[in-house]
Amino acid sequence: MRWWKLPVFLAGLAPLLWLAWGVYREDLGPNPVEYLTHATGDWALRLLLITLAITPLRRLFGWRKPVLVRRMLGLFSFFYACLHLIVWLWLDREWQWAGMLEDVLKRPYITVGMLAFAILLALALTSNLFSMRRLGKNWQRLHRLVYGAAALGILHYIWLVKADLLLPLTYLAVFGLLMVLRLPLGRVGQG
Ligand code: HEM
Repeated sequence: MRWWKLPVFLAGLAPLLWLAWGVYREDLGPNPVEYLTHATGDWALRLLLITLAITPLRRLFGWRKPVLVRRMLGLFSFFYACLHLIVWLWLDREWQWAGMLEDVLKRPYITVGMLAFAILLALALTSNLFSMRRLGKNWQRLHRLVYGAAALGILHYIWLVKADLLLPLTYLAVFGLLMVLRLPLGRVGQG
């Protein structure tokens, strides 16, 4: 592990430590369950977008080092998505499987969130060297689903918001920009 991977790892852990500190101090606002659901969902999405920014950064500015932490950042996104799901299952739905299933089937934003999670799960399980070798070219095809996961994560957020759309639309704008920068057009001027 190169030395500069450590600060990235610690930065990925920071939101968890911050939340754990809030839980310990019982300082998560008037609705701690809502706070935890929102914070873990936000971090899953932010880290996913940061992961998607790495290739455009390399193309535009020639930054190669971040590529080496892409997998770590992607796994951190999955990690926060897992916490998000656990908070919902445990603290919100209280392991009531029937109610949970009803939510998944009847609330489109939950359905979409589940789909995003299923993609992240598949990507996390195949993010190792063994799967890379085994899947060959299909590995890249599978891992292109990461864009779908981000799009579904943003749709999930837009769908659930009742009033202030500023943040979800900002995520959407960032995602759109990252997609545009991936087009061959984004390489104009690279020589
Ligand atoms: C595993 C299935 C998922 C379930 C059951 C789920 C459920 C929820 C719930 C109940 C909320 C709060 C809704 C409210 O307050 O009205 C929420 C918010 C959110 N979720 Fe999910 N979610 C899932 C997956 C995901 C994934 C994979 C992402 C990101 C990639 C994500 C990102 C978010 C974001 C950004 C918010 C809003 C945070 C905020 O308001 O600041 N969720 N989710």
